[in-house]
Formats: sequence, structure tokens, C-alpha cells
Amino acid sequence: MNEKPTLFSGIKPTGIPHIGNYLGALKQWVDLQGKYNCIYSIVDYHAITIAIDKDELQKNIYTTARILLSIGINPDKSILFLQSTIPEHTELCWIFNCLTPMSELQRMTQFKDKAKQHRQNINAGLFDYPVLMAADILLYNAEFVPVGEDQLQHIELTRIIAKKFNNRYGEMFAMPKPIVGPAKRVMSLNNPTKKMSKDLGESSYISLLDPPEVVEKKVKKAVTDTGPTDANNMSAGVKNLFDLLVYFDNNSAYQRFMQQYQQGTIKYSELKQELANTINKTLDPIRTKASNITDDDIKKILQSGANKARQIAQAKINKIKQTVGTFI
Ligand code: TRP
Repeated sequence: MNEKPTLFSGIKPTGIPHIGNYLGALKQWVDLQGKYNCIYSIVDYHAITIAIDKDELQKNIYTTARILLSIGINPDKSILFLQSTIPEHTELCWIFNCLTPMSELQRMTQFKDKAKQHRQNINAGLFDYPVLMAADILLYNAEFVPVGEDQLQHIELTRIIAKKFNNRYGEMFAMPKPIVGPAKRVMSLNNPTKKMSKDLGESSYISLLDPPEVVEKKVKKAVTDTGPTDANNMSAGVKNLFDLLVYFDNNSAYQRFMQQYQQGTIKYSELKQELANTINKTLDPIRTKASNITDDDIKKILQSGANKARQIAQAKINKIKQTVGTFI
């Protein structure tokens, strides 16, 4: 490893990510490669906090890896590995459990939301989820963590845990900082006052592997309004379409349609066609790459990533155990 600071992030293997996940976090994972020592993990132990079928989970792990490689995560530049292959994550999680106040975990809004959604399965893992996340980050002494906005509270808790450890045992961990990209709020196409989400149905989101005609169909069905008002009062649905043009790097179309909007001559059907083409331009190479990566390729890449991650993780956990006194 060289002088660059370390950056860590994780993704739960829950199926094919949508363009909101991509623009909100994953695109940054790609763009930040080279500037940092990037370590990326598919966090399968986080995924089992929600009841999930074994075969489904296996499939999701491969799908998630396939997507990451297809959007441009480069195993020669970054470490990519499966969380459960490095048991030091759960080991450090236990040590952190013994430093984390219950009251801090009780404040976590993601826990409260998930507990409401899964009333029959409010398990200890779901409650402890943020502590495992803190272990993921601090095991590699990561200073930067690119995440979506919804994870900021968990990063704050990670800092609290790091501080508690450092105060009790002496300097061990850097204080990680979140990196949040510009595309914070990609809204649902069918429900544009809510964030894009698989929970809001098929027509809410565009998955990274939706075929071109499906992308087109979903964009065309996106909620707009009956016509332009003034630009400060744009409806949520139309604003979302404009935002997406910018997030997908088509600034010239943004300007052209914005002018038409202001003049009141805009046709939403044309805006939508342009946006669908723009999205497909980004998704085309992703879809092609994804179809060319075999499960065997993925296995090899994740194993070689685990070998690199293991070296860092083992060295760090040994230091930590020396400090805590759990060794002979
Ligand atoms: N909790 C994160 C999410 O739901 C995933 C995650 C697990 C993560 N461990 C992490 C993100 C460590 C950043 C760093 O999106």
C-alpha cells in the first residue's frame, strides 16, 4: 500500500441496484479509484439481518459483484471482496459491541424503519447492524467512506465508537469521514416526492440491467404535470427528469430543455425521449459487460480480493487484541 488515504465502502447484496443507488453512491466508488486506496465489500452478513433464502442470497452476491465490475470497479486498482470471507469483521464487531451504548443504537433511524417493516423478525443482528458497519470501516483504518445520505447516521456512530476505543485503550483508529456525492436525491419516477426505491414498485425505478426498451417505457410513464409553471415552482416529477439529465452528464440537453421550459414551449414527450436515450447511453456498456462476466471470473476476483483484505485485517486485529488484552 502507498501513501494514499484508505477509503472503504460496502454494498448489501439485495439484487440489481437501480440508477438511484448508482448515482447516489456506486458511481462515486468508480470515480474515486486511483485517488484513494479503495476497499469495497459486498456485505453479506448485513444482508442476513433480513430473512433471505439461501439460493436467493447466493444469486444476489454474484449479481452485485457482476454489477460492480460492469460499472467500472477495477480489481487491479481496488480491493473487492465478500465480507463473510474475512472473519475479522465479526470479531471486531464483538469488541465494539462491548463499547457501544444500547442508547446510541436505539437512536438509529434505519433500525426503527426496518423494525417497522419487519415486525416478525426484529432480531439482534438488525439492531447491531451499525456496529458491524463500524467494524467494516475501522478494520481497514479507512479515513473516507462514500455513502448515500441515509448512511450518515451510521458513519457518525462509527466515529463515536472509534473515539470510545481510542479514549479507553489509546490511539488506534482514524476518524472516518463520509463522502456524499451530488446526486443525493434521485426521486421515484411514479411517485416523485419519494426517493427512488424498489419498495415503490417496478415503475418507480430503473434497474442497471433493464433492457433499453424497458428504460424507455419507464421514463415515458414518469409522472410530470400539465405544463410549465415558473422555474422556481417546477413540479417534483419534472425537476427529477431535469436532474437526471445532469446526473447522466447531458448538460447540453438540460440547457436546451430548460430554455424551452422557461419559454413555455417544452414538450415533455421530447424531454423524456432525450432522457431515455441519455440513460441508455450510460447503461449500454454496463449491460454488455455484465453479460460477459462469468460466475467463475467473479469467484476468482473475490478470492484474490479477500487475500489482499485478509492481510490488512489480520494485522489490524492482532494490534487491537494486544491492546484489549484478549491474547495469550
Ligand atoms: N449499511 C450500508 C448500506 O446499507 C452498507 C454498508 C455496510 C457499508 N458496511 C459498510 C457502507 C461500510 C459503507 C461502509 O448501504
